[in-house]
Amino acid sequence: MSSTDPITALDAYEADALGAISQAQSEAELEAVRIQFLGKKKGRLRELQSILGKVEPDQRPVVGKKFNGVKTGVEGELQKRREQISRPQAALSGLDITLPGKPIELGRKHPLTQTIEEFKDIMGRLGFSVAEGQEIEDERHNFEALNIPLDHPARDPLDNFYLAAAESAAGGPVLLRSQTSPVQIRVMETTPPPIRIVCLGRVYRPDTIDATHSCMFHQMEGLMVGDSVTMAQLKTILHLLAKAYLGHEVRVRFRPSFFPFTEPSVEADMSWGDDWLEIGGAGMVDPNVLRAVGYDPDEVSGFAFGLGIDRFCMQRYNVTDIRRFVENDVRFLRQF
Ligand code: DAH
Repeated sequence: MSSTDPITALDAYEADALGAISQAQSEAELEAVRIQFLGKKKGRLRELQSILGKVEPDQRPVVGKKFNGVKTGVEGELQKRREQISRPQAALSGLDITLPGKPIELGRKHPLTQTIEEFKDIMGRLGFSVAEGQEIEDERHNFEALNIPLDHPARDPLDNFYLAAAESAAGGPVLLRSQTSPVQIRVMETTPPPIRIVCLGRVYRPDTIDATHSCMFHQMEGLMVGDSVTMAQLKTILHLLAKAYLGHEVRVRFRPSFFPFTEPSVEADMSWGDDWLEIGGAGMVDPNVLRAVGYDPDEVSGFAFGLGIDRFCMQRYNVTDIRRFVENDVRFLRQF
């Protein structure tokens, strides 16, 4: 390329280099192109540089400027092509990476999860810690220790989900817990009094499903055991909980009831406009239950309660069908 005019030579170089760059299909090919055109030792640009030295002095600024422009242009194209090649899918599928992205839809917490978290928070402020239970229970924890004898109708296999293929560590039958009350037993078995816990989670009953019944729902169990724990404290706790969750004043009343594991037992209601709504069962822990876990009923007393979380949540948000919670319908879930 000795006698050619330097500007023409630079133009030819540029055209050849850009052509070769655009045809390179892999990083290796591109590297070969780079060495051929920009290589420090034998690259074609190197040869051109030597011509530059022989240019007439008055031509030097023009040719120098041209030289630099071509060099930067070729280097830039090389870099662009390198990026294209390193993202082959994008290059091949014709994906337009300059289009604005699709907005990411942010999820949110399920209304029941929100209620569970709020309950934990409120009860935490009232001094209750959260106990974890287990959803598969043995008969001792789900029934016996809760003073539910063998012939009690609550134990009917038809009213429970027994797991035919499994057994407990002790060898007995196991079932999906029908209530969160077994957690009372598990906590008392492993902890000396005083106790102040809540346990929130799923429970299972083969109920016929309708707007207010489901085969799986959520309960919050509460247990407080210590020196002279009273029913007045129970009522106060339920009142503070309902008021804090609903965000306005409510009244709580007790109606006499029966549960094998409490004596006396009550159904607790809260006021709702001119009505009363049932919020759950409660009572003073039955001495037989205290004995079953090795406590002395003459030394300690306690209260317990079990509330339906789903119903509370339905009440607060005016949800009229419990099935909405498990249908995964985002139009419903988005409202919370
Ligand atoms: N376990 C009862 C149920 O599922 C609810 C209940 C009633 C829990 C009284 C309690 C209680 O702790 O004291 O129907």
